[in-house]
Amino acid sequence: MVIKENSLGTLTIGEIAATLPGATAVFRKFKLDFCCGGDAMLVDAVRKRGLDIGLVEKTLAALDPSTSAPAPEATGALIDHILSRYHETHRRELPELVRLARKVEAVHAGHPEAPRGLADTLEAIQVELEEHRQKEETELFPLMRQEHDSGAELPIAQMRLDHDRHGELLRRLDTLAHGFALPGDACRSWEALYVGTDKLIDDVMEHIHLENNVLFPRFEHREAA
Ligand SMILES: [Fe+2]
Ligand SMILES: [Fe+2]
Repeated sequence: MVIKENSLGTLTIGEIAATLPGATAVFRKFKLDFCCGGDAMLVDAVRKRGLDIGLVEKTLAALDPSTSAPAPEATGALIDHILSRYHETHRRELPELVRLARKVEAVHAGHPEAPRGLADTLEAIQVELEEHRQKEETELFPLMRQEHDSGAELPIAQMRLDHDRHGELLRRLDTLAHGFALPGDACRSWEALYVGTDKLIDDVMEHIHLENNVLFPRFEHREAA
């Protein structure tokens, strides 16, 4: 995709995220929601956050597309990529983050900046993501691999609702961890917890973006046609 400054405002955030490698990192930096809020036009989302559209467009236009690997093109390969890069990674990383959060909350219970409630929210995400992955892995993805022309619309709508709920929980993580600002006397475990949780948010947002903005539209547009 060739990007020119001043040409992005009328595209949606999801369209830009799906076609411009590296754009998702820019959206994260400006705290623009590219996964669940991908339907919003860039200019509207920027205005809502009180940002400068010129600065956001300039940052996007300055991206070097050759430095980010694009997601696989073919549907089967894209699903394989989602499973190995995201589903398995979250399965592996979340139990350790819950354990770390419980430890930090217990050891620093009297600290004014302790992330109270973070362990419970991480555990809620762990449970919800597992239920959601099961639905994708056993129902929706097998249907998509067969390239069926119909039948995917309802499960996709349900997955999009689940993603919205995941987005709410991710925002709660950010709030409970005070934007991941570590106090000066934070221990190694606290630091590891914030680094790991911040990375988890990045990963889950990229994951939702790949499904909402790249994979799902292939089947929704087909049915609409
Ligand atoms: Fe998924
Ligand atoms: Fe999903």
